[in-house]
Amino acid sequence: MFVCVCYGITDKQIQEAVSDEGVGNIRDLKIHLGVGAQCGSCVELARQIIDEKICDEHLFKDVG
Ligand code: FES
Repeated sequence: MFVCVCYGITDKQIQEAVSDEGVGNIRDLKIHLGVGAQCGSCVELARQIIDEKICDEHLFKDVG
């Protein structure tokens, strides 16, 4: 699903940026993918995806 229509960024790309690039907030995400740098309407959803992914990563580490 597209999260940032202006830059054509999907939720999967955001999740990968969190797990592979260590992105932890919107500022980092903007630097890596440009998300939110145009109209800004994607920022809230992108923030939720980052937070959910960070929670998943922590759960995964606890199990492993
Ligand atoms: S939808 Fe992301 S900047 Fe416009």
